[in-house]
Amino acid sequence: MSGCRFTCCFWIYYNLILCFSLSFMIFGFIFLPQEPKFTITNATLTQFNFNSSNNTLDYNLTLNMTIRNPNKRVGIYYRRIQVIGDYRKKRFALVTLNTLPFYQGHKNTTELHQVVVQGSQPVKFGKREVSQFTEETASGIYSIKVQLALRIKARYGKFTSRNYQPYRKIDCKLNVPLSFNETSIASGFKATRCENVYFFTDPDSD
Ligand SMILES: *[C@@H]1O[C@H](CO)[C@@H](O)[C@H](O)[C@H]1NC(C)=O
Ligand SMILES: *[C@@H]1O[C@H](CO)[C@@H](O)[C@H](O)[C@H]1NC(C)=O
Ligand SMILES: *[C@@H]1O[C@H](CO)[C@@H](O)[C@H](O)[C@H]1NC(C)=O
Ligand SMILES: *[C@@H]1O[C@H](CO)[C@@H](O)[C@H](O)[C@H]1NC(C)=O
Ligand SMILES: *[C@@H]1O[C@H](CO)[C@@H](O)[C@H](O)[C@H]1NC(C)=O
Ligand SMILES: *[C@@H]1O[C@H](CO)[C@@H](O)[C@H](O)[C@H]1NC(C)=O
Ligand SMILES: *[C@@H]1O[C@H](CO)[C@@H](O)[C@H](O)[C@H]1NC(C)=O
Repeated sequence: MSGCRFTCCFWIYYNLILCFSLSFMIFGFIFLPQEPKFTITNATLTQFNFNSSNNTLDYNLTLNMTIRNPNKRVGIYYRRIQVIGDYRKKRFALVTLNTLPFYQGHKNTTELHQVVVQGSQPVKFGKREVSQFTEETASGIYSIKVQLALRIKARYGKFTSRNYQPYRKIDCKLNVPLSFNETSIASGFKATRCENVYFFTDPDSD
């Protein structure tokens, strides 16, 4: 008698769990947004000088970038965008954009013009960094990694989600030619798509 009751309970319980996880999966499949796409469309580098006697990097980098929301049903609020400048994993700049926050509708692309990353920063370059820097100075093209740190919210109809922060920082690996003035060789820059965009999916989950 009690054994039968136990089995019934077990089956009801089991089916409930199954229903819940199935609907959860279907819900996730329909509503899990696609990641936004980030592209650095153009970059102008008018100054990138490392002075080894006082270990200071003077830099002036101007970026244009686009952010695309590829989703049909999900809007995105951009609450904060920070732009980080790295040279060989050594951070030399962090800029918080002041154009924010803004809302981006379905299938929309937002252009951010003239993001200025400019300043003078003490950096600790080791031998390898200095030798790469010297090589790149000779070639006139610097490999600069721009990272983006964002805080966003997703909007489904009238429902707005919690804050999302990416699992990792978004990486934009740029090769930027140095232009001594604005009319010179800045056109040598190729638009670069940024990698490691993981707001809604966890890259380490599989
Ligand atoms: C960014 O775009 C604006 C407007 O399209 C343009 O005037 C400017 O030269 C661009 N800046 C860079 C760094 O390419
Ligand atoms: C490097 O910095 C030192 C100390 O501030 C300065 O005397 C020197 O002129 C600088 N060198 C260059 C190439 O700017
Ligand atoms: C180091 O030298 C550069 C010039 O090369 C100058 O712009 C910068 O302000 C100096 N930094 C310090 C901390 O003296
Ligand atoms: C930085 O470069 C831009 C051109 O991209 C120029 O307009 C601006 O005056 C420069 N700023 C400094 C402080 O050199
Ligand atoms: C994209 O967003 C901008 C600003 O909110 C708006 O003016 C524009 O009409 C939108 N474009 C599309 C295709 O929805
Ligand atoms: C800028 O570069 C162009 C082409 O290299 C050159 O003709 C021009 O004189 C330069 N202007 C300045 C202010 O250095
Ligand atoms: C980048 O900007 C420079 C200066 O504004 C312009 O001459 C060049 O054509 C632009 N390159 C691209 C790929 O848009």
